[in-house]
Amino acid sequence: MGRAKKVVLAYSGGVDTSVCIPYLKQEWGVEEVITLAADLGQGDELEAVREKALKSGASESLIADVKDSFIQEYVFPAIQANALYEQRYPLGTALARPLIAKALVEAANKYGADAIAHGCTGKGNDQVRFDVSVAALNPHLKILAPAREWGMSREETIAYGERFGIPSPVKKSSPYSIDKNLVVRSIEAGVLEDPTVEPPEEIYEMTKAIANTPNEPEYIDIGFTKGIPTALNGTSKNPVELITQLNKLAGNHGVGRIDMIENRLVGIKSREIYESPAMVVLIQAHRDLESLTLTADVTHYKRGIEETYSQIIYNGLWYSPLKAALDGFIGQTQERVSGNIRVKLFKGNATIVGRESQHSLYTPDLATYGADDKFNHQAAEGFIYVWGLPTRIWAQR
Ligand code: ARG
Repeated sequence: MGRAKKVVLAYSGGVDTSVCIPYLKQEWGVEEVITLAADLGQGDELEAVREKALKSGASESLIADVKDSFIQEYVFPAIQANALYEQRYPLGTALARPLIAKALVEAANKYGADAIAHGCTGKGNDQVRFDVSVAALNPHLKILAPAREWGMSREETIAYGERFGIPSPVKKSSPYSIDKNLVVRSIEAGVLEDPTVEPPEEIYEMTKAIANTPNEPEYIDIGFTKGIPTALNGTSKNPVELITQLNKLAGNHGVGRIDMIENRLVGIKSREIYESPAMVVLIQAHRDLESLTLTADVTHYKRGIEETYSQIIYNGLWYSPLKAALDGFIGQTQERVSGNIRVKLFKGNATIVGRESQHSLYTPDLATYGADDKFNHQAAEGFIYVWGLPTRIWAQR
């Protein structure tokens, strides 16, 4: 009796997930392995990936194009939440995991599989995100994670694969572990494991080094509708287009590099480098538009919600009742977050230099220092008397 009969495996085309195919069948007695590669805009040659799975022993090799729903259903809600893990990481890798899990569960239901499998090890966040998301979407499915148990080194994994016709990587494989999709490149390992070492320039692809960025600033306009970016430089864009173009524009000015030590859910501190130009610009722009259109109390209260929301995404709880409840709050706040934000891109910085909205709460004749000031200055005195009363009494005692 194997651990499962029919398994849907999350497949990337790399050595580890390829080795999972024969491993599941030989070592764990699985009868049939169906692979699923999600197209998140990572730019891999997916037809080659599809064929590689079949050559490695998969009975069926699926490609799921989820680019559109990735941006609309996962990335845009995170932007509405201004979600930054530990104030810095825009969560591009973490957001993709619940979507991949959803595609896996849908395939398992369709093909009558009794288990899901993935190639994550036992040290990372992604295993948590996959396992919890699958459990939330179909608690009857088993979850198999061979790489969490097999205990093979890199060399042993390659040797195991070769026995089953899985070619060892042709080029000297990169020393880095890289996860890539439409909104992020996450890079770790190799020399980056030493937190004192500056990341070598060669690791970057989406962002230029400051030395190579244009010597003139570039101004861009981002249009938002109810907290969702919908236009770039005055032209409506579909979600994938908008993200793709903004990545190019911002990356060209060196915007979006993040080098941080982060706290993983499993208790380990890790050093990760991110390139996420569009996300960095969009969150900054969105936050600015909120400053213009939300009342002070909602703006301030939302900060706490955003912190919790970021942790929910990072910690694998996308499909949880708390996340759904916070979506209700955030959705309500976004009703009037529509307008236009002007951003200046220059030498690694995205600076907000202008904003406008038909729902702007900014009131010029209250704010002005000029002659047309309508603010009632006398009213301030009574307000301050009452506001300061507890402090005054305290001081007198
Ligand atoms: N630390 C990031 C996260 O947990 C990215 C994980 C994957 N990183 C990688 N270089 N493979 O979301």
